[in-house]
Amino acid sequence: MQLSQNHPLEAGLTHDSRLITAYGGTRPDVTPVWFMRQAGRSLPEYRELRVGNAMLDACLKPELASEITLQPVRRHGVDAGIFFSDIVVPLKQVGVDVEIVPGKGPVLGKAVRTASDIDELVALDPSVLDESLDPVIEAVRLTVAELGRTPLIGFAGAPFTLAAYLVEGGPSKDHIHARTLMHAEPEAWSRLMEWVAEVTGRFLRAQVLAGASAAQLFDSWAGALSLDDYVRHVAPASARALEHVRDLSYTTEPVEPGANAVVHTVPIVHFGVGTGELLKAMHDIGADVVGVDYRVPLDEASRRLGGVVPVQGNVDPALLSAPWPILEAHVRDVLARGANAPSHVLNLGHGVPPETDPAVLTRLVEFVHAQ
Ligand code: CP3
Repeated sequence: MQLSQNHPLEAGLTHDSRLITAYGGTRPDVTPVWFMRQAGRSLPEYRELRVGNAMLDACLKPELASEITLQPVRRHGVDAGIFFSDIVVPLKQVGVDVEIVPGKGPVLGKAVRTASDIDELVALDPSVLDESLDPVIEAVRLTVAELGRTPLIGFAGAPFTLAAYLVEGGPSKDHIHARTLMHAEPEAWSRLMEWVAEVTGRFLRAQVLAGASAAQLFDSWAGALSLDDYVRHVAPASARALEHVRDLSYTTEPVEPGANAVVHTVPIVHFGVGTGELLKAMHDIGADVVGVDYRVPLDEASRRLGGVVPVQGNVDPALLSAPWPILEAHVRDVLARGANAPSHVLNLGHGVPPETDPAVLTRLVEFVHAQ
């Protein structure tokens, strides 16, 4: 399906930005940079706005969510905004009892542990999201109107990461109940994964239709899985989730007069934590770009991806608090290794730690742009 004429990609605002160029596999003038969790607790202006607003309430107030998304773009001069929301927002909007507990993460009213719990959950109709995502759609519209030529990245949680929260009932270390369930009750597991793919896929599609220029799927906990379990019990649902955005396209005018307009699809990034063994499989589900955490150097990641896939990453967040010369040497190394891939978007190997000095992030952006 073609994006609407006022979408920033279709309107010609973001299609030739550094980010979208690099996501398309071409190296722009300088390496683009943005940070996972750039919006959030490292910024005093964020902490101030959040006073009196529970996390999920903040996500559903369009003006607030939009302003929080814009804060790090203004402050750091990054090459993209990442939409301020959370992976559990579509679960909440479809009717799941979930809250985000500060310092902990998403916590469910009731863990989904058995086949009958799953039946009860999947009885919630994902199509209600078409109306209950209005605050998200409104927040995206407000944000892209302000961002102009800077692309907004929409995102969603991958089915495994969301299922891990649902089955465990909250954050857990090795997601043992979820991994037991996928083997002990493979049919119930696949019903759960199909449902989650539908819910999270609709969340992602709504953001792109409303104005996001790229989409990132976060599989934060897939690193707990063997390659075999990933391919068999998880990848099909992640592919299903991405199908919700894979058909979205935009057109650019030809450079030479008389030539045909070119149709492009909206770029999709797939990121996981501790997923060095899964990189190829994560690309194969229908991603254009693979996000790499800090454990695998980018030259090795690119080799595992056959040398043909744009990569995103992978500054170790721990080094943001090291003295500048140590961080600078590390960033130079990341850039040099990233040169092995067709193109590279600099990011962190996971999110910005809350205690990070924001001035370091601004300096890092300036440094990357000056190379
Ligand atoms: O700049 C951005 O990246 C902002 C948008 C964003 C948030 N969550 C806001 C948020 C994104 C992309 C996410 C994704 C998300 N949420 C993931 C995938 C990425 C990752 O980090 O692995 C996961 C696993 C979640 C679930 C979640 N939500 C956790 C683990 C937490 C942290 C809980 C805590 O307090 O330590 C949250 C809450 C959350 N989501 C915060 C933010 C800014 C912090 C809430 C606060 O400020 O009180």
